[in-house]
Amino acid sequence: MADDLLSQLRQMTTVVADTGDIDAIRRFEPTDATTNPSLILQAAQLEGRRERLADIARQAADIDDALDAVAVEIGSEISSLVPGYVSTEVSARLSFDTDATLARARSLIERYGRHGVGPERILIKVAATWEGIRAAQQLEREGIQTNLTLLFGFAQAQACADAGVTLVSPFVGRILDWHKAQSPDADFSGDNDPGVRSVKRIYEHYKGHGYDTIVMGASFRNAGEILALAGCDRLTISPALLGELADTRGPLTRRLSAQDAETRAPESLHESDYRWHMNEDAMATDKLAEGIRKFMEDQRKLEVLLGELRRG
Ligand code: E4P
Repeated sequence: MADDLLSQLRQMTTVVADTGDIDAIRRFEPTDATTNPSLILQAAQLEGRRERLADIARQAADIDDALDAVAVEIGSEISSLVPGYVSTEVSARLSFDTDATLARARSLIERYGRHGVGPERILIKVAATWEGIRAAQQLEREGIQTNLTLLFGFAQAQACADAGVTLVSPFVGRILDWHKAQSPDADFSGDNDPGVRSVKRIYEHYKGHGYDTIVMGASFRNAGEILALAGCDRLTISPALLGELADTRGPLTRRLSAQDAETRAPESLHESDYRWHMNEDAMATDKLAEGIRKFMEDQRKLEVLLGELRRG
Protein backbone atom coordinates (compact mmCIF):
# COMPACT_ATOMS: atom_id res chain seq x y z
CA MET A 1 0.00 0.00 0.00
CA ALA A 2 1.30 3.51 -0.86
CA ASP A 3 2.52 5.78 1.95
CA ASP A 4 0.51 8.80 3.05
CA LEU A 5 0.86 11.89 0.88
CA LEU A 6 2.59 13.99 3.55
CA SER A 7 5.41 11.46 4.03
CA GLN A 8 5.94 11.30 0.28
CA LEU A 9 5.87 15.08 -0.05
CA ARG A 10 8.61 15.35 2.60
CA GLN A 11 10.89 13.29 0.30
CA MET A 12 10.83 15.96 -2.43
CA THR A 13 9.89 19.25 -0.73
CA THR A 14 10.75 20.85 2.60
CA VAL A 15 7.46 20.91 4.48
CA VAL A 16 6.67 24.07 6.44
CA ALA A 17 3.76 24.60 8.85
CA ASP A 18 1.77 27.78 8.22
CA THR A 19 0.63 28.40 11.78
CA GLY A 20 1.43 29.77 15.20
CA ASP A 21 -0.38 26.86 16.83
CA ILE A 22 2.20 25.01 18.93
CA ASP A 23 0.15 21.80 19.18
CA ALA A 24 -0.16 21.59 15.40
CA ILE A 25 3.61 22.08 15.05
CA ARG A 26 4.22 19.29 17.57
CA ARG A 27 1.86 17.02 15.66
CA PHE A 28 3.20 17.52 12.13
CA GLU A 29 6.92 18.05 12.87
CA PRO A 30 7.60 20.45 9.98
CA THR A 31 11.13 21.64 9.13
CA ASP A 32 10.17 25.34 9.32
CA ALA A 33 7.16 27.38 10.37
CA THR A 34 5.64 30.59 9.05
CA THR A 35 3.47 33.13 10.83
CA ASN A 36 1.75 36.30 9.64
CA PRO A 37 -0.23 38.98 11.51
CA SER A 38 -3.48 36.97 11.16
CA LEU A 39 -1.84 33.78 12.46
CA ILE A 40 -0.18 35.66 15.36
CA LEU A 41 -3.62 37.08 16.29
CA GLN A 42 -5.08 33.55 16.26
CA ALA A 43 -2.18 32.13 18.26
CA ALA A 44 -2.33 34.99 20.78
CA GLN A 45 -6.02 34.24 21.38
CA LEU A 46 -5.45 30.53 22.06
CA GLU A 47 -6.44 29.21 25.46
CA GLY A 48 -3.59 29.40 27.96
CA ARG A 49 -1.81 32.41 26.45
CA ARG A 50 -3.80 35.21 28.11
CA GLU A 51 -1.77 35.44 31.32
CA ARG A 52 1.56 35.65 29.50
CA LEU A 53 0.08 38.09 26.96
CA ALA A 54 -1.04 40.36 29.79
CA ASP A 55 2.49 40.30 31.28
CA ILE A 56 4.00 41.19 27.92
CA ALA A 57 1.49 43.98 27.36
CA ARG A 58 2.15 45.49 30.80
CA GLN A 59 5.95 45.34 30.47
CA ALA A 60 6.04 46.80 26.94
CA ALA A 61 7.11 50.41 26.33
CA ASP A 62 4.25 50.93 23.85
CA ILE A 63 1.92 48.99 21.54
CA ASP A 64 4.55 48.45 18.81
CA ASP A 65 6.89 47.06 21.43
CA ALA A 66 4.10 44.80 22.73
CA LEU A 67 3.26 43.56 19.21
CA ASP A 68 6.85 42.59 18.47
CA ALA A 69 7.26 41.04 21.91
CA VAL A 70 4.23 38.79 21.27
CA ALA A 71 5.43 37.79 17.80
CA VAL A 72 8.92 36.96 19.10
CA GLU A 73 7.56 35.11 22.15
CA ILE A 74 5.49 32.85 19.88
CA GLY A 75 8.29 32.60 17.31
CA SER A 76 10.84 31.60 19.97
CA GLU A 77 8.54 28.87 21.26
CA ILE A 78 8.15 27.60 17.68
CA SER A 79 11.92 27.74 17.12
CA SER A 80 12.42 25.24 19.95
CA LEU A 81 10.17 22.78 18.10
CA VAL A 82 11.37 23.06 14.49
CA PRO A 83 14.94 22.55 13.26
CA GLY A 84 14.75 25.17 10.49
CA TYR A 85 13.51 28.70 9.88
CA VAL A 86 10.80 30.58 11.73
CA SER A 87 9.25 33.45 9.75
CA THR A 88 8.12 36.55 11.61
CA GLU A 89 6.44 39.41 9.78
CA VAL A 90 7.30 43.08 10.15
CA SER A 91 4.31 45.33 10.89
CA ALA A 92 2.06 45.62 7.82
CA ARG A 93 1.84 49.37 8.51
CA LEU A 94 5.45 49.71 7.30
CA SER A 95 4.87 48.10 3.90
CA PHE A 96 5.75 51.28 1.99
CA ASP A 97 8.54 52.55 4.27
CA THR A 98 12.00 51.09 3.62
CA ASP A 99 13.78 52.76 6.55
CA ALA A 100 11.11 51.92 9.10
CA THR A 101 11.06 48.29 7.86
CA LEU A 102 14.85 48.11 8.30
CA ALA A 103 14.68 49.46 11.85
CA ARG A 104 11.86 47.12 12.85
CA ALA A 105 13.51 44.07 11.27
CA ARG A 106 16.80 44.75 13.07
CA SER A 107 14.94 45.16 16.34
CA LEU A 108 13.06 41.85 15.83
CA ILE A 109 16.40 40.09 15.30
CA GLU A 110 17.83 41.69 18.45
CA ARG A 111 14.75 40.65 20.38
CA TYR A 112 15.12 37.05 19.13
CA GLY A 113 18.76 37.22 20.25
CA ARG A 114 17.60 38.04 23.79
CA HIS A 115 15.51 34.84 23.65
CA GLY A 116 18.61 32.90 22.58
CA VAL A 117 17.47 32.49 18.97
CA GLY A 118 20.14 33.40 16.41
CA PRO A 119 19.60 35.24 13.11
CA GLU A 120 20.32 32.04 11.15
CA ARG A 121 17.00 30.63 12.44
CA ILE A 122 14.82 33.62 11.53
CA LEU A 123 13.31 34.87 8.30
CA ILE A 124 12.00 38.40 8.52
CA LYS A 125 8.81 38.55 6.47
CA VAL A 126 8.28 41.68 4.44
CA ALA A 127 5.54 42.48 1.92
CA ALA A 128 6.94 42.36 -1.63
CA THR A 129 6.26 46.03 -2.38
CA TRP A 130 9.07 47.93 -4.09
CA GLU A 131 9.93 49.55 -0.72
CA GLY A 132 9.81 46.18 1.06
CA ILE A 133 12.10 44.59 -1.52
CA ARG A 134 14.64 47.42 -1.10
CA ALA A 135 14.58 46.90 2.67
CA ALA A 136 15.06 43.15 2.19
CA GLN A 137 18.05 43.74 -0.09
CA GLN A 138 19.75 45.83 2.60
CA LEU A 139 18.85 43.36 5.38
CA GLU A 140 20.39 40.50 3.41
CA ARG A 141 23.61 42.53 3.09
CA GLU A 142 23.59 42.80 6.90
CA GLY A 143 23.16 39.05 7.32
CA ILE A 144 19.44 39.23 8.17
CA GLN A 145 17.55 36.72 6.07
CA THR A 146 14.21 37.64 4.57
CA ASN A 147 10.99 36.04 3.32
CA LEU A 148 9.18 38.22 0.78
CA THR A 149 5.47 37.71 1.17
CA LEU A 150 2.20 38.75 -0.47
CA LEU A 151 3.81 37.78 -3.76
CA PHE A 152 1.22 37.54 -6.53
CA GLY A 153 2.83 38.97 -9.68
CA PHE A 154 5.80 37.84 -11.73
CA ALA A 155 7.40 41.30 -11.51
CA GLN A 156 7.49 40.95 -7.72
CA ALA A 157 9.25 37.60 -8.12
CA GLN A 158 11.79 39.05 -10.56
CA ALA A 159 12.56 42.03 -8.31
CA CYS A 160 12.95 39.76 -5.25
CA ALA A 161 15.43 37.46 -7.02
CA ASP A 162 17.34 40.49 -8.26
CA ALA A 163 17.57 41.76 -4.68
CA GLY A 164 19.07 38.45 -3.54
CA VAL A 165 16.46 37.68 -0.89
CA THR A 166 16.68 34.33 0.90
CA LEU A 167 13.12 33.17 0.22
CA VAL A 168 9.93 34.21 -1.57
CA SER A 169 6.40 33.15 -0.69
CA PRO A 170 4.31 33.20 -3.86
CA PHE A 171 0.64 32.92 -2.84
CA VAL A 172 -1.48 30.29 -4.57
CA GLY A 173 -4.95 30.31 -3.01
CA ARG A 174 -5.46 34.06 -3.02
CA ILE A 175 -4.70 34.12 -6.76
CA LEU A 176 -7.32 31.41 -7.24
CA ASP A 177 -9.77 33.42 -5.07
CA TRP A 178 -9.31 36.44 -7.36
CA HIS A 179 -9.85 34.49 -10.58
CA LYS A 180 -12.88 32.66 -9.15
CA ALA A 181 -14.44 35.97 -8.20
CA GLN A 182 -13.89 37.25 -11.76
CA SER A 183 -15.03 34.06 -13.55
CA PRO A 184 -17.20 31.95 -11.20
CA ASP A 185 -17.99 29.33 -13.86
CA ALA A 186 -14.47 28.71 -15.17
CA ASP A 187 -12.63 25.42 -14.54
CA PHE A 188 -9.64 26.14 -12.33
CA SER A 189 -8.96 22.56 -11.31
CA GLY A 190 -5.56 20.82 -11.55
CA ASP A 191 -3.06 22.52 -13.84
CA ASN A 192 -5.65 25.20 -14.75
CA ASP A 193 -5.24 26.69 -11.27
CA PRO A 194 -3.74 30.15 -11.88
CA GLY A 195 -2.04 30.14 -8.45
CA VAL A 196 -0.29 26.85 -9.23
CA ARG A 197 0.77 28.21 -12.63
CA SER A 198 2.20 31.32 -11.01
CA VAL A 199 4.45 29.30 -8.66
CA LYS A 200 5.59 27.02 -11.52
CA ARG A 201 6.54 30.02 -13.63
CA ILE A 202 8.50 31.61 -10.79
CA TYR A 203 10.21 28.30 -9.94
CA GLU A 204 11.26 27.76 -13.57
CA HIS A 205 12.48 31.36 -13.88
CA TYR A 206 14.59 31.09 -10.70
CA LYS A 207 16.09 27.71 -11.52
CA GLY A 208 16.60 28.72 -15.16
CA HIS A 209 18.52 31.87 -14.17
CA GLY A 210 20.50 30.26 -11.38
CA TYR A 211 18.99 32.34 -8.55
CA ASP A 212 19.57 30.88 -5.07
CA THR A 213 16.36 32.39 -3.68
CA ILE A 214 14.18 29.64 -2.20
CA VAL A 215 10.68 29.30 -3.67
CA MET A 216 8.09 28.50 -1.01
CA GLY A 217 4.51 28.17 -2.27
CA ALA A 218 2.01 29.56 0.29
CA SER A 219 -1.71 30.20 0.78
CA PHE A 220 -3.35 26.95 -0.25
CA ARG A 221 -7.07 26.39 -0.67
CA ASN A 222 -7.03 22.61 -1.26
CA ALA A 223 -4.66 19.62 -1.22
CA GLY A 224 -4.71 19.45 -5.04
CA GLU A 225 -2.80 22.75 -5.24
CA ILE A 226 -0.10 21.33 -2.96
CA LEU A 227 0.20 18.07 -4.89
CA ALA A 228 0.48 20.02 -8.17
CA LEU A 229 3.58 21.73 -6.72
CA ALA A 230 5.29 18.63 -5.29
CA GLY A 231 9.03 19.13 -5.75
CA CYS A 232 8.95 22.89 -5.10
CA ASP A 233 11.78 23.96 -2.72
CA ARG A 234 9.40 24.53 0.20
CA LEU A 235 5.64 24.63 0.70
CA THR A 236 4.02 26.25 3.73
CA ILE A 237 0.80 24.46 4.60
CA SER A 238 -1.98 25.03 7.14
CA PRO A 239 -2.55 22.39 9.86
CA ALA A 240 -5.91 21.44 8.26
CA LEU A 241 -4.27 20.61 4.93
CA LEU A 242 -1.26 18.94 6.59
CA GLY A 243 -3.81 16.71 8.36
CA GLU A 244 -5.58 15.93 5.09
CA LEU A 245 -2.28 14.96 3.41
CA ALA A 246 -1.26 12.84 6.41
CA ASP A 247 -4.59 11.00 6.32
CA THR A 248 -4.57 10.28 2.57
CA ARG A 249 -2.72 7.41 0.93
CA GLY A 250 -1.87 7.16 -2.76
CA PRO A 251 0.99 7.74 -5.19
CA LEU A 252 2.58 11.19 -5.33
CA THR A 253 4.49 12.33 -8.41
CA ARG A 254 7.13 15.06 -8.41
CA ARG A 255 5.82 17.97 -10.51
CA LEU A 256 8.66 20.50 -10.24
CA SER A 257 12.32 19.75 -10.76
CA ALA A 258 15.33 22.05 -10.94
CA GLN A 259 17.13 19.56 -13.18
CA ASP A 260 14.96 20.50 -16.17
CA ALA A 261 16.16 24.11 -16.05
CA GLU A 262 18.43 25.51 -18.73
CA THR A 263 20.52 28.25 -17.10
CA ARG A 264 20.46 31.76 -18.57
CA ALA A 265 22.01 35.00 -17.29
CA PRO A 266 20.16 36.76 -14.40
CA GLU A 267 18.00 39.72 -15.43
CA SER A 268 17.60 43.09 -13.71
CA LEU A 269 14.27 44.80 -13.17
CA HIS A 270 14.26 48.55 -12.58
CA GLU A 271 11.75 50.35 -10.38
CA SER A 272 9.82 51.73 -13.36
CA ASP A 273 9.56 48.19 -14.86
CA TYR A 274 8.36 46.75 -11.55
CA ARG A 275 5.72 49.46 -11.19
CA TRP A 276 4.67 49.20 -14.82
CA HIS A 277 4.26 45.41 -14.76
CA MET A 278 2.41 45.54 -11.45
CA ASN A 279 0.04 48.14 -12.84
CA GLU A 280 -0.59 45.95 -15.88
CA ASP A 281 -1.38 43.00 -13.60
CA ALA A 282 -4.75 43.82 -12.02
CA MET A 283 -4.79 40.64 -9.93
CA ALA A 284 -1.36 41.30 -8.38
CA THR A 285 -2.16 44.97 -7.75
CA ASP A 286 -5.53 44.14 -6.10
CA LYS A 287 -4.28 41.24 -4.02
CA LEU A 288 -1.12 42.98 -2.78
CA ALA A 289 -3.13 46.02 -1.63
CA GLU A 290 -5.87 43.87 -0.10
CA GLY A 291 -3.32 41.58 1.58
CA ILE A 292 -1.65 44.53 3.33
CA ARG A 293 -5.09 45.85 4.39
CA LYS A 294 -6.17 42.47 5.76
CA PHE A 295 -2.95 41.89 7.71
CA MET A 296 -3.32 45.42 9.09
CA GLU A 297 -6.93 44.68 10.12
CA ASP A 298 -5.79 41.70 12.19
CA GLN A 299 -2.80 43.59 13.52
CA ARG A 300 -5.18 46.33 14.75
CA LYS A 301 -7.30 43.68 16.52
CA LEU A 302 -4.19 42.48 18.34
CA GLU A 303 -3.24 46.08 19.14
CA VAL A 304 -6.69 46.61 20.71
CA LEU A 305 -6.39 43.41 22.72
CA LEU A 306 -2.89 44.32 23.96
CA GLY A 307 -4.04 47.87 24.73
CA GLU A 308 -6.85 46.50 26.93
CA LEU A 309 -4.44 44.16 28.71
CA ARG A 310 -1.98 47.02 29.30
CA ARG A 311 -4.72 49.07 30.94
CA GLY A 312 -5.42 46.05 32.94
C1 E4P B 1 2.20 32.37 4.53
O1 E4P B 1 3.32 32.79 4.39
C2 E4P B 1 1.02 33.16 4.14
O2 E4P B 1 0.92 34.30 4.97
C3 E4P B 1 -0.21 32.31 4.21
O3 E4P B 1 0.04 31.10 3.54
C4 E4P B 1 -1.44 33.02 3.67
O4 E4P B 1 -2.50 32.10 3.58
P1 E4P B 1 -4.01 32.54 3.34
O5 E4P B 1 -4.15 33.08 1.96
O6 E4P B 1 -4.79 31.29 3.54
O7 E4P B 1 -4.32 33.59 4.38
